[in-house]
Amino acid sequence: MKILFVCLGNICRSPTAESIFQKKLMASFPSLTFDSAGTAAYHTGEPSDPRSIEHARSRGYEMTHLARQVSIKDFYEFDLIFAMDQANQRDLRQLCPEESLQKKIYLITDFAKKIKQKGVPDPYHGGADGFDFVIDLLEDCVSGVVEKLIKNSSSN
Ligand code: 4NP
Repeated sequence: MKILFVCLGNICRSPTAESIFQKKLMASFPSLTFDSAGTAAYHTGEPSDPRSIEHARSRGYEMTHLARQVSIKDFYEFDLIFAMDQANQRDLRQLCPEESLQKKIYLITDFAKKIKQKGVPDPYHGGADGFDFVIDLLEDCVSGVVEKLIKNSSSN
């Protein structure tokens, strides 16, 4: 099972999601693999934003991803694709090459348990609080995603 997280630049939110899910689920779900990508190519090949790396590290997550743009191949290769916000979700829906693949695309915050809001806010132009909130919100989505995985596997 391959899971892709998608934001705009692939240097803040989606690589943070990748690191959090990887760390939290690798022991219990070793067959899951995680990757991330951006709808835009602004930062292709670059490491994640140093602020994201630092905030993630302070919460116990290592970020080593290099940014890449989402590609058509991703819609075939990945089983589930989680958009970080509604603009990312719209872009993914437009890019999706086949109607039958649209069902792989979800909004990550629809799986949050405690924090109810649509989309992970982009922290890029803001302060430190925004980076911490990205982590709070993504951590809150992990168990909801696990429930979805379990539901999917029992219906297959
Ligand atoms: P991300 O944040 O989508 O969470 O990686 C952004 C990073 C860079 C830019 C925008 C959002 N940018 O405009 O360069």
